Amino acid sequence: MTQAKNSHASAGQLSQAPERGYRRIGFETRKFEQRREPYWQGVNEILGMGYDPADLIHHFPAFTGHVALGRFLALYEVYKQTLGLMGHIAEAGVFKGSSMLMFAKLTKLFEPESLTQVHGFDWFKGNHPDDNEKHLVDDNSYFESKERLEALIKAQQLDNVAMLHELDLSKDLPAFFDQYAHLQFKLVFLDCGLYKVVHHCIEHFWERLTPGGILLLDNINHETAPGETQAVRELLPGLQIRTFPFTQQPTGYIVKPMVG
Ligand SMILES: C[S@@+](CC[C@H](N)C(=O)[O-])C[C@H]1O[C@@H](n2cnc3c(N)ncnc32)[C@H](O)[C@@H]1O
Repeated sequence: MTQAKNSHASAGQLSQAPERGYRRIGFETRKFEQRREPYWQGVNEILGMGYDPADLIHHFPAFTGHVALGRFLALYEVYKQTLGLMGHIAEAGVFKGSSMLMFAKLTKLFEPESLTQVHGFDWFKGNHPDDNEKHLVDDNSYFESKERLEALIKAQQLDNVAMLHELDLSKDLPAFFDQYAHLQFKLVFLDCGLYKVVHHCIEHFWERLTPGGILLLDNINHETAPGETQAVRELLPGLQIRTFPFTQQPTGYIVKPMVG
């Protein structure tokens, strides 16, 4: 997710367009650059209108920008494509939980009697890029506390559907899957963008993705995360990568081919 680095203003607090937590070279990030300042001006105006924070929750389409809405519609579209397929849902890199909890709520709505659960993986330390990716993304960006996310999940009685796993996604998946060997997924969402993380995730999630299931990629072919494109090229060459014409990110997805 490149829209913004961390949390911005809370309700009632005015904010400017936030600093970006990533490097721009002016390819993909340039396409809608002219909309950025007017968008944030509008956010400022809304935050100054005195709405009750509960209004922002209950009437969210009145406030949320179309770009954010498009992202959630893409998650819905991809989720719908996996309905009826066996497996859980995994998200690698959960941050504040918006995508993870979107999937948990879709599961509640569309699979009321299935055992499908959403497993969110994160080390809850934010992004800490290696030296070779330090120029791309800010150290410490996208930090969120595990405790607050757990509390958010509990407050919505989602803790039987949404499970959090605190681990380093650049190295800890083999030990995790040794312990929970039965886990199989129908949908895996990668949202870290860092080469080592994406590489390790594809290595260990791909074999656990049900054929016909979907690997959803937030950053492929995006200038802010070349490591994601590189890892996909290395580990999954020659597969069709589709995209959504109505959203900027996720940038792509792969339907795992059937064997034979
Ligand atoms: C871009 S944010 C995820 C955004 C989220 N999917 C969403 O839709 O709002 C990236 C997340 O990856 C996590 N992360 C970065 N490196 C990691 C690593 N080595 N292991 C586990 N999590 C990592 C960060 O803590 C952060 O929460």
